[in-house]
Amino acid sequence: MERHVAIVGAGVIGSAWAARFALHGIDVKVTDPAPDVERVLDEVLANARAAWTHLGLVVAHEGTISVVGSIEDAVAGAGHVQESAPENPAVKIPILEAIAAACPPETVIASSTSGIKPSDLQPTIDNPGRLVVGHPYNPVYLLPLVEVVGGVATDDAAVQRAMATYTEISMKPVHVRVEIDAFIGDRLLEAVWREALWLVNDGVATTEEIDDVIRYGFGLRWAQMGLFETYRIAGGEGGMAHFIRQFGPCLQWPWTKLVDVPELTEELVQTIAEQSDLQSGHHDLRELERIRDANVAAILRALEANDWGAGRTLKEQRERLG
Ligand SMILES: NC(=O)c1ccc[n+]([C@@H]2O[C@H](COP(=O)([O-])OP(=O)(O)OC[C@H]3O[C@@H](n4cnc5c(N)ncnc54)[C@H](O)[C@@H]3O)[C@@H](O)[C@H]2O)c1
Repeated sequence: MERHVAIVGAGVIGSAWAARFALHGIDVKVTDPAPDVERVLDEVLANARAAWTHLGLVVAHEGTISVVGSIEDAVAGAGHVQESAPENPAVKIPILEAIAAACPPETVIASSTSGIKPSDLQPTIDNPGRLVVGHPYNPVYLLPLVEVVGGVATDDAAVQRAMATYTEISMKPVHVRVEIDAFIGDRLLEAVWREALWLVNDGVATTEEIDDVIRYGFGLRWAQMGLFETYRIAGGEGGMAHFIRQFGPCLQWPWTKLVDVPELTEELVQTIAEQSDLQSGHHDLRELERIRDANVAAILRALEANDWGAGRTLKEQRERLG
């Protein structure tokens, strides 16, 4: 990318975007009113570099990350803007209006929103045809997926340019063709999260037991084949049709609470927080991030050796970085 990238909002997600762009040799300008933004950026970049070491990636040229005092200073002349402000339309929309007023008219503005439809973000911004959602997954410097979503006013060209930018930084952009709240990944995750909250609420399992069920079991399958390919195999020689016919009726059994949501009482929040402290409280945040990153990197390298799934994206990343 010839021009710098602007990151507006540098919390969990914005700081990791900054690291991913910089590690691909792209200069980044960041703006965020938080007083400790420099510290967060430094710590996240350090974790990103460590994660890349686990991946065996060598960075030939690292871009710069500079913090500037205003949205205008960040986005003036930017080649791509990644808005990563809090998940609240009342906060995001004025920020997007300010970005659109200050950056070149052709610059793609991408929102990292986890679920707000781009059509709800674009009506009041200048040149709304260049606004897309570019929804990443945490940690952005390590996980390749980004969901790209256009709104009613978005130009196809903006979607294509966003997809090209993300490919340039070794991501796997998936175009969410039909605009829908929460897109694809978070719709699936919300369903699992809802059921997990019920299981804790009803005293069926602790946070650790639920995590064990995932990481010792179907989580390992999901990382390499997802859902449908896994279930195809589960259907045995009868394949997918047999699988659906065998397990389809369970959907009518009481195997799931579906759209019911447990009330997030203070008691339930405390129960989950206490169980989580018991499970993981002996690690601080950055340490947990490093454990996660080393494990994800190991999985990615194993998939690369098998030339499969997200390992293919890592292989392309290695070739891209030379
Ligand atoms: N946390 C995740 O796992 C995750 C994953 C994917 C997408 N997202 C999305 O990314 C976005 C950011 O989420 P997060 O988890 O990084 O939140 P966060 O609270 O960690 O970070 C938000 C940052 O925005 C800053 N901010 C507030 N007002 C601002 C302004 N006027 N200008 C610039 N910066 C401002 C805050 O100081 C903060 O540092 C949200 O839209 C969220 O839905 C989050």
